[in-house]
Amino acid sequence: MALKIIKFPHPTLKKKARPVAKVTPAIVKLIDAMIETMHKAPGVGLAAPQVNKSIRVIVVDVGPGPIALVNPEVIEKSGSQIFMEGCLSVPGVEAPVERAALLKVKGLDRDGVEIVVTAEGFMATVLQHEIDHLDGKVFIDRIADPALIKYVAPKNEKKEELL
Ligand code: NI
Repeated sequence: MALKIIKFPHPTLKKKARPVAKVTPAIVKLIDAMIETMHKAPGVGLAAPQVNKSIRVIVVDVGPGPIALVNPEVIEKSGSQIFMEGCLSVPGVEAPVERAALLKVKGLDRDGVEIVVTAEGFMATVLQHEIDHLDGKVFIDRIADPALIKYVAPKNEKKEELL
């Protein structure tokens, strides 16, 4: 079942999310619903606070299939890169954000098993963007120069509304 995505500046998006004590069937159900919601949007990542659940769960899919991480924790990062980012909770906005280029993240998978994900390039950016959501941060908090913020018309916006 697809979930409703809340929009900035909803207060849940500004809160630090709490850790998950155990990957229970309810958490697995949430993970599956988040993956469906992300694909339907469509988006490449989604964090639980975006569906108004203030807990540390993220899902990401940049192509090779979805992965879920519970209580993700960055254990190594290096380098720097800049990608244009957008966010399902901040519609209509894109901007370049500088983040680490190489990343190692530890967390629990959908089965509750501890895994380490090594990421680079766009995947590294998406993981950092989603983990930021767990700490109450959205990507526009990280924009160095507001002049670089780009307006993107929402898909369903009528042309007249742009005039
Ligand atoms: Ni986002």
